[in-house]
Formats: sequence, C-alpha cells, structure tokens
Amino acid sequence: MRIDVITGHPSLFTGPLSESIVKRAQDGGYVRIELHDLRDYTHDKHRTIDDTPYGGGAGMILKPEPLFECIDGLQQQRSYDHVILTTPAGQVYDQKLCKRLSMFENLIVICGHYKGIDQRVIDELVTMELSIGDYVLTGGELAAAVVIDSVVRLIPGVIGDGESLLSDSFMDGELDCPYYTRPPEFRGRSVPEELLSGDHKRVATWRRKQSERITRERRPDLLDEASRPHGRKD
Ligand code: 6GU
Repeated sequence: MRIDVITGHPSLFTGPLSESIVKRAQDGGYVRIELHDLRDYTHDKHRTIDDTPYGGGAGMILKPEPLFECIDGLQQQRSYDHVILTTPAGQVYDQKLCKRLSMFENLIVICGHYKGIDQRVIDELVTMELSIGDYVLTGGELAAAVVIDSVVRLIPGVIGDGESLLSDSFMDGELDCPYYTRPPEFRGRSVPEELLSGDHKRVATWRRKQSERITRERRPDLLDEASRPHGRKD
C-alpha cells in the first residue's frame, strides 16, 4: 500500500509515523508513506499556500494551484483508489471505513487546514471527505495521522497473529473485554478467577460476557441491530 499525504505542516507527522507499529510497517515494506509539503508546489517567493476567502470573513483558505499541481503530478505516476480530504464536514470515520481503506493500493490524503480549502479542489479531485468526530481540530493533519495509523495496522502482516487484531474493540461490533497481567493480586484487587483457571472455554465465555456487558453499558448504540444496515456486525 502507498499513501501520499499532502500537507502544509509535514513536521506534524514525524512523531506519529516514525514510532511503533507504523514505523515497523514502513520498515517492513507493508506501506510506503510519502509526505508532500504543499509549499514545495508554490512558485512565489513567500511560498503562499493560503489566501483570504472571496466574500470576506475570518480565516484562510488553501489555494487551489499548489494542490492541483501536487495531485496532478502524483496521478500522472500512478492511479489512485481515492483522494481523501480530512475535514470536519466529512463522513464520520469508523472501523468499517477503516477496513475498506486498508484494502486499497494507493491513497492520497489531503490535510484540510485553516478555514478550509478551495471548493474547486473538492469538486475536481477529492473523492472522499472524512471527519474523525464531532469536534474541531486546528487542522486536518492530526485527523490524517489517526486515519493512517488505524488503516496501517489492518494491512495483513503488519500486526502478527500473536497480537490483538481479531479481538479488538469494534471488530465484531462490540467493545473489547478487560485485560489483566501479572501479578494475580495487586493493592487488594484480584484478577478474575476465570482468567487464572487455565480453562480456555471458561476464559472465552467470561470475555464474551464482559464484552457484551461493557458494550451494553457504554455503547448500546453498537448493539442496536437497527443502526447497522442489513444487520451486519461490522
Ligand atoms: Cl478531519 N479536520 C478538522 N480540522 N477537525 C476535525 C476533523 C478533521 N475531524 C474532526 N474534527
């Protein structure tokens, strides 16, 4: 998989992309993530990427020319499955969308910034607008990092069998169960007896019940069949 990220602030990605599982995925050749600094596609001496909105109002809008130049150049080299824009006005991102994205070969992610981006970029180039939730970030970079992190870990091979993919929260429409590690008793609190029993069936039953309880208490919307089209557990 290849992900091309277009941003006015590439340094915001150095942390999230160069640690832990995402770093390992890149080093292992599972994903190639290329950052493109929007300012490299400007031609004025101040390397201007934004401008004031027509009609007035506060905030700055990303100019169309650098985005078109960058994306045209990328699309001449390969074809992309989607050109994603991170914006609070987008479709709300969830695990189901994340799974869909993880199956693509080539993605472009444009980080929205400031007040917004010129609508002509959206009309001509963008194929998917994503929001990571109902709150406002200063820019789309952190949202893009969230999308990339969540997609990369689903690429087959990135997370090994020994790790947690299948039991993740959301993987079958429920939240994950509680976990414990050593010691068996800590500050007067014991690990549930079922988990220490060595009986795999008892462990599995306990975990299933806990998942169901936590989901019912915290996120009953996830259990509501009616909220999932075709009753799918995704
Ligand atoms: Cl994708 N962008 C911004 N700026 N704020 C957000 C968001 C995206 N998703 C939630 N809030």
